[in-house]
Amino acid sequence: MVLLSTLGYVGAAVVGVGWVCRIMFSRNFETHDASDEEDVQGKVVLITGANSGLGKVTTFEMAKRGAKIIMASRNLELTNSVVAQVRKMYPSSELTAMKLDLGSLESVREFAKEVQAKFDKIDILINNAGVYAPLKKQMKTVEGYEFNFGVNHVGHFLLTNLLLDLVKAAAPSRIVVVSSRRSDSAKLSFDDLMLEKENPETSKIDPYSNSKYANLLFAKELSNRLQGTNVNVYALCPGWVKTDLARYADLTWKQYIIMVPVAFIFMRTPRQGAQTILHCALSRKVRQETGQFYRDCTHWSPKSAVTDEAAQQMWTVSESLAKLK
Ligand SMILES: NC(=O)c1ccc[n+]([C@@H]2O[C@H](COP(=O)([O-])OP(=O)(O)OC[C@H]3O[C@@H](n4cnc5c(N)ncnc54)[C@H](OP(=O)(O)O)[C@@H]3O)[C@@H](O)[C@H]2O)c1
Repeated sequence: MVLLSTLGYVGAAVVGVGWVCRIMFSRNFETHDASDEEDVQGKVVLITGANSGLGKVTTFEMAKRGAKIIMASRNLELTNSVVAQVRKMYPSSELTAMKLDLGSLESVREFAKEVQAKFDKIDILINNAGVYAPLKKQMKTVEGYEFNFGVNHVGHFLLTNLLLDLVKAAAPSRIVVVSSRRSDSAKLSFDDLMLEKENPETSKIDPYSNSKYANLLFAKELSNRLQGTNVNVYALCPGWVKTDLARYADLTWKQYIIMVPVAFIFMRTPRQGAQTILHCALSRKVRQETGQFYRDCTHWSPKSAVTDEAAQQMWTVSESLAKLK
C-alpha cells in the first residue's frame, strides 16, 4: 500500500515536472503575427501534403482566410475526409482535393496538367509534403530513386518547374519550401545522390537530412533564377513537430521509451509547427525577401553549406533526374 502510494506520488511529480518543462520550453515557439499579413481572400494556394500534420493545419488556416485551396496528396480518401472537416468549420471554403504522388514523375506531370486545366494562376505554392524513411528500409520511388530524395526533392523540383508559369501569372506570388534543421546533418555527395554505394545496414548517412538539404539548395537556386519576376521563394524549418512523419521509421520499444518523455517536452503541436509556414506564406514583413531561410518566424542560418555553386549543381542534376530536359 505504502509502495503504491509512493509510486503514485513519484509518478505525479514526474508528470508535473514534465508539464512545467513543456510549458517553459514552448514559450520559445514563436507565433506568426496575423495582424501583419497579406489578404489571401480568393487567392489560389496549392499545398502538397494537405491531408496530415503541418499541411492539414495550414489548409485550415488558409480556409479561415478565404483562400481557394488546392489540396494535393496521395491518399484522396483521407484528403476528402479533411475537406469535410474544413467545410464543417468554414462552410463556404473553396477546396479542390487532387491526387499527387511525388514519388512518381508521371503522377506529378498528370497532376500539373490537371492544375493547369483548372486554374489560371497560383498565388502561393507550398511544397510541404514529405517522408522520412530510414536507409535500411531501402524504399524507392517509381523511378528507382532513394525514397526521401525522390519524394521530398525530385518530385517537388519537377512539380514547381511545371507550375512555374502559373505562379508567375499571379505575381507578386510566393513559393514556400518546407525543409528541416535536419539538413544540418546532411552528408550529400553528388557522386552518390541515391546512396547506392552505402551499406544500408551500417551507413551513417541519413537520407532524410540529405533530401532536406536538397530542399534548401533548390530554394536558393530557384530564388536566383526568379530574380525580377516578383515571385519570392522562402525555405523554412517548422521545428520538431508531432505528426505522422515517422510512419516508416519502425521505432523499437526502447527508442519509444526514450522518445516519449523527450517528445512530450520538446515537440510542437502541428499548430505550433505551422506558424513559420504561415509567416513565409503570408507575412508582409518578408514580402520583399527571397532566397532566405526561416525558423520560429524569423531568419535561420542552416549549418549546411547552401552555396550558389552547390545550388546550381543540384539544379542541373535535378533537371536530368526529373527528366525535365
Ligand atoms: N514533423 C516534424 O518534426 C518536421 C520537422 C521538420 C520538417 N518537417 C517537414 O514538414 C513537412 C510536413 O510533414 P509533417 O510533419 O506534417 O508529416 P506528415 O503528417 O506525415 O505529413 C506528410 C504529408 O506528405 C504527404 N506525402 C507523403 N508522401 C507523399 C507523396 N509521395 N506524394 C504526395 N504527398 C505525399 C502525406 O500524404 P499522403 O500520405 O496522403 O500522400 C502527408 O499529407 C515535411 O516536408 C517534413 O519533412 C517536419
